[in-house]
Amino acid sequence: MTLSDWNFIEELGGESAAETLMRSFYDRLFEDVMIGFFFVNSDKEALIRSQIEYVHANIGGRQGSYEGPSIRKAHRELPILSGHFDRRHQILKEVLDDFEVPEKVRDAWISLDLAMRPMVLRQGKEVRGAGSNNCRN
Ligand code: HEM
Repeated sequence: MTLSDWNFIEELGGESAAETLMRSFYDRLFEDVMIGFFFVNSDKEALIRSQIEYVHANIGGRQGSYEGPSIRKAHRELPILSGHFDRRHQILKEVLDDFEVPEKVRDAWISLDLAMRPMVLRQGKEVRGAGSNNCRN
């Protein structure tokens, strides 16, 4: 048994506790004045499920199986800038504090989230957009 052989769902207190935490996270994201607009057409229940699966499959003992698209692919069409990323990350940290998530889980989750930054951010030419030629007029 290695140090990271813990189970994400068990550490959160079981399936139903994990779902309660994740629902609180998505409730806050959907209602947020800064980034809520990203989620207007999203299925909250589906996001709760896939986020649990994704994190479960990627931290601790990595027992879960995430069968959704790659993180890069899932966000390819979304104009996410660094301020949006930081806002979501801040909300995540607040939820982890409010739910008193064990420190090892909190640290691993936060690191995973930060590692995904380049996968979800729009960068370079994408940020400037296809209309950047207009600047020359
Ligand atoms: C940084 C870590 C992030 C992770 C690990 C993550 C993870 C995910 C996952 C697993 C999905 C569902 C994919 C699927 O099953 O189809 C998803 C969808 C989505 N994410 Fe993220 N995400 C991250 C950051 C962000 C940020 C910063 C935003 C916006 C501020 C965002 C907005 C969305 C939206 C709007 C969807 C739904 C897209 C749709 O309904 O088609 N995500 N994300």
